[in-house]
Amino acid sequence: MIITDQNIDRLYGSHFANFNKIVIGTGEKIKTQTTVEYIIEELLNKGCDRHTFIVGVGGGVVCDIAGFVASVFMRGIPFGFVSTTLLSQVDASIGGKNGINFKGFKNLIGVFNHPLFVICDINMLKTLPIEELKSGLVEVIKHSIINQPKGFDFIVKNLDDILSIDISTIQKLLMDSIQVKMDIVAKDEKESGERKKLNLGHTIGHAIESTERIPHGFAIAKGLIMTAKLSQQAGFCNEETVRRISSLIKSIDLPTTTDVSTQQLIGFIQKDKKKNLGKIDFIMIKKIGEVFIKTLTLKELENKINNIF
Ligand SMILES: NC(=O)c1ccc[n+]([C@@H]2O[C@H](COP(=O)([O-])OP(=O)(O)OC[C@H]3O[C@@H](n4cnc5c(N)ncnc54)[C@H](O)[C@@H]3O)[C@@H](O)[C@H]2O)c1
Repeated sequence: MIITDQNIDRLYGSHFANFNKIVIGTGEKIKTQTTVEYIIEELLNKGCDRHTFIVGVGGGVVCDIAGFVASVFMRGIPFGFVSTTLLSQVDASIGGKNGINFKGFKNLIGVFNHPLFVICDINMLKTLPIEELKSGLVEVIKHSIINQPKGFDFIVKNLDDILSIDISTIQKLLMDSIQVKMDIVAKDEKESGERKKLNLGHTIGHAIESTERIPHGFAIAKGLIMTAKLSQQAGFCNEETVRRISSLIKSIDLPTTTDVSTQQLIGFIQKDKKKNLGKIDFIMIKKIGEVFIKTLTLKELENKINNIF
């Protein structure tokens, strides 16, 4: 059973015309229990059972929902992904996290469960809207800041080829970036330590995303720059590191500043499911290729954010 969204069905439906399929809407707004119920009803209507195999064909939204449904339908059936956005190829389809949003909280309901395969066809990125490509590229930049300084240089040098989807350039970009996430997940699947590093830029980025209502990658781009500034203010990284990160993000033509106030950011972070007994594991940057976890109280984080405004 293929689970896909309307855009993918319109563009690529002819490739899976002979398969059973369930087509859902698009966008973050459909990552809900209502969509899960709709899919489960359709699975039943179409006679699916424990022997059914689900293939999610789409971006992170489709993969997150398809993986979640497959994990709970009849206590779990096998599944795989055909990942169709840059973001889902380097990030969402790797690492076993599947889930849906609940009452405005992202990915609040979910499971850890790995697909049996992930297929990444670079050619499919050619139909991806440029804004979506850039959004995915921000996650690739994030991976390089975490653990791959050469990957960061590669993006700086090959930006035009990346944005015009030169196949061999994207292939290297994907392989390197996927490796960063796979290495981290292999060390810490359930996010008790090392995996938290993948939240780089996301504590602030998620708060910006929900307040400014801009695309995920754009918000994370701002979150990365603010995190770099905050790390510099705290004495953990130098000014050159901040300059290089800001200048790469600027050269992709992504927004770099936010009008969101410290109070709004802290208000949102307070509700973050990842905070623990009032404390936040904030990911600081030491240099490009090295980050570390710094546990802060909300008050400490608020003071640090105030320092960079
Ligand atoms: N599970 C995880 O570990 C993880 C990690 C990161 C992000 N995510 C989740 O991923 C989601 C975002 O994923 P996304 O950025 O891929 O967004 P998306 O799935 O919403 O896709 C973006 C848009 O591009 C369209 N699209 C997809 N592939 C296309 C193609 N090849 N050609 C043309 N259009 C195409 C989609 O229909 C959609 O309109 C978020 O919900 C986020 O929470 C999950």
